[in-house]
Amino acid sequence: MSDGYFNEELLNTEIKHNVLKRVLLKSLAISSVARLREDTDLYAFVDLYAGEGIHEDGKLGSPLIALETIDSFTYINDFIKYKCLFTEIDEVRCNKLKQNLSSYKKSMKKQEKIEIICKKGDWCEFAESMIEMLKETKWGFIFADPFANQINMDLFINILNTEYIYSLKDIMIFVNYNAFKRIIGTGNKELIQKVADFFGITVDKFNSEINTDSSGNIDFKIFNELLIDRLKETNKDFISGFSIPNTKNGKLTNSDYFFLIFCTTDINMVDEFYKCLINEMVKVKSETTYICTLHQKINNAILANPITLLALFKVLTSSFISWKYNLPEDVPTKNQIIDYLNDLSKKGLITFKVKDNSVLSKRSRSFIKLNKNLTKNHMDGVLITNVKE
Ligand SMILES: C[S@@+](CC[C@H](N)C(=O)[O-])C[C@H]1O[C@@H](n2cnc3c(N)ncnc32)[C@H](O)[C@@H]1O
Repeated sequence: MSDGYFNEELLNTEIKHNVLKRVLLKSLAISSVARLREDTDLYAFVDLYAGEGIHEDGKLGSPLIALETIDSFTYINDFIKYKCLFTEIDEVRCNKLKQNLSSYKKSMKKQEKIEIICKKGDWCEFAESMIEMLKETKWGFIFADPFANQINMDLFINILNTEYIYSLKDIMIFVNYNAFKRIIGTGNKELIQKVADFFGITVDKFNSEINTDSSGNIDFKIFNELLIDRLKETNKDFISGFSIPNTKNGKLTNSDYFFLIFCTTDINMVDEFYKCLINEMVKVKSETTYICTLHQKINNAILANPITLLALFKVLTSSFISWKYNLPEDVPTKNQIIDYLNDLSKKGLITFKVKDNSVLSKRSRSFIKLNKNLTKNHMDGVLITNVKE
């Protein structure tokens, strides 16, 4: 996969970049007006696996996409300074990146505000300076985009949990499940140890978790569960993820092994992440006969006990969504969840008990209907009860 990666931007890479662009812009917008925001706060962008900055076909890579996005962010509440750190292990790529960064910076309107640091080497070597930089910046976005899964997760999570750094920085990680599968197939003990380390479990536990059938297939749901458990160590409220397709012969394949994972404490950030997925899916996916799995998941979650809207949202957003098996209607955005709940309320199948009437739509007279633009607190104050027949 790595050979020729920077020759042209493949369609699946374009999807990844579209998501990065949109989620980073939202992160800037949300943090710039956040309750804890002070005028002197700085914003950090960290790209641990930076690459060359531009593909040979002229399409921008993640470092320049980040700079372009920061430059295009023109709110009154703009940050006084941005610190952008890029690390790239390959010498030739890093030299290209440095050139690309310096010529791109000259074209930026906000060049005075943006400090660019570009380091050649394994990002793990720069952990201390990274921590220093992250301490100086309250807000930010960390992107880890390796070819396979070479992330030293212990160090990554340690950095994220270092004092000051935790909480207000969003994290996006690319994970390649096929690379795990290939390693398991080799039976190489050293490599399997690395995969177990990635998930933070022993090799014995890892071996007992992987569910192989007689044909040697591995259910990727196991990786999802292991990864969600592992990333809980970041202490973020939302660990969400979806697969993106691969590209073969210039076309997107309906595959399911490249995953984008997003960790955040902000409910509107996780919502934006899933809106990006819908945006990408509607361009390519459609089906006529179809049962909406989001509706099934909501039915299951509200079946037994009353549940708050926030708890329901957390359940739905922390089970990863599949590009292969899901459709746009399955994606757990606030809008799609609340639409379905309102529909159930209209049919008299559920009731809402609310702490604050402002969550209710005033326009609806015939049944109790929720507004869509609800905050985390609002959602915590809505109790959904299934009406038993
Ligand atoms: C998938 S590419 C990154 C693409 C880039 N994020 C983009 O969207 O344009 C992965 C890059 O990570 C680099 N890399 C691999 N291991 C690394 C490490 N430990 N530290 C820093 N860079 C690394 C590779 O040389 C490669 O250029």
